[in-house]
Amino acid sequence: MSELYAVIGDPIEHSLSPAMHHFWYETYNMDHHYHAFRVKPDNLKDAVRGMKAIGVKGFNITIPHKINIIPLLDSVDDEAQMLGAVNTVVNRGGKLYGYNTDGLGFLLSLKEEVPEILEQNPKVLIIGAGGAARAVGLTLAKHVKLQQLDITNRTMEKARQLSEECTDLTNTRVLSLQEAKDTLPDYDLIINGTSVGLAPHIDQMPMDITPSERKQVFADLIYRPLKTKWLREAEAQGHIILNGLPMLIYQGALAYKHWFGKLPDAKIMQSFLERKMED
Ligand SMILES: NC(=O)c1ccc[n+]([C@@H]2O[C@H](COP(=O)([O-])OP(=O)(O)OC[C@H]3O[C@@H](n4cnc5c(N)ncnc54)[C@H](OP(=O)(O)O)[C@@H]3O)[C@@H](O)[C@H]2O)c1
Repeated sequence: MSELYAVIGDPIEHSLSPAMHHFWYETYNMDHHYHAFRVKPDNLKDAVRGMKAIGVKGFNITIPHKINIIPLLDSVDDEAQMLGAVNTVVNRGGKLYGYNTDGLGFLLSLKEEVPEILEQNPKVLIIGAGGAARAVGLTLAKHVKLQQLDITNRTMEKARQLSEECTDLTNTRVLSLQEAKDTLPDYDLIINGTSVGLAPHIDQMPMDITPSERKQVFADLIYRPLKTKWLREAEAQGHIILNGLPMLIYQGALAYKHWFGKLPDAKIMQSFLERKMED
């Protein structure tokens, strides 16, 4: 039977989620529909009530509703509670259950694309302390044995808050942007969790890349453009790079798993979305 799934956010018109989920539905011969709804903050409560009323089976939540949706749900799992944000909802018999697949999506992208990094108790630096950096930082701190998790951000107070939240989970410090830049070669994995470099500001970098003798992994949560200036420079210096597209795909794949009980093929999605983004 055909079921309705959705994503709500504002803005929403550039979301890749409808294309991604429809591609999976077609791949697995499912007759479902996934629709993007623009929901203004003032309308969130009515929108969620509407989802229940019309029997939407599951939906994703994106900016700016990931935090404010929590009190509107019947239950929220541990991961989403830790992050204080929900990006996936499952409707089970009229009750709404909230999950968060953002941080786990990033972790899965690391496991699939650069698995060796997770086997060596890595020293990690996160640049940024917004919603995405927070999801990634707390998830790595909780699920990976890290030697160190350092956080830097333009607004130091936000970096301090995130680091404090991680203290029970791992070794963590707050660094100024200058300190982070000076010690960049010490890290095994460096993650840009800021929006610096996001289209259309594609000539910007979150930080200059200090030359290093050894190969490091540079990750960027941004997927528009697919290769930010930060990743291009890191690659030119011989480092391993990872863009934000696998994170987007795996957070979607994990949402799919919440709805249908198994992970869909994420590998076939990569080239499909790359082609879609070129259109
Ligand atoms: N791949 C994925 O699936 C995925 C998922 C979510 C987000 N993302 C990407 O992650 C990025 C961050 O998203 P978000 O939701 O975390 O946004 P957010 O909550 O608004 O956080 C933005 C972050 O970027 C920093 N920043 C913004 N402009 C800056 C500037 N001019 N100079 C220095 N720092 C600046 C902010 O620093 P302050 O704290 O100082 O303002 C903050 O750390 C976006 O590019 C988004 O596309 C990717």
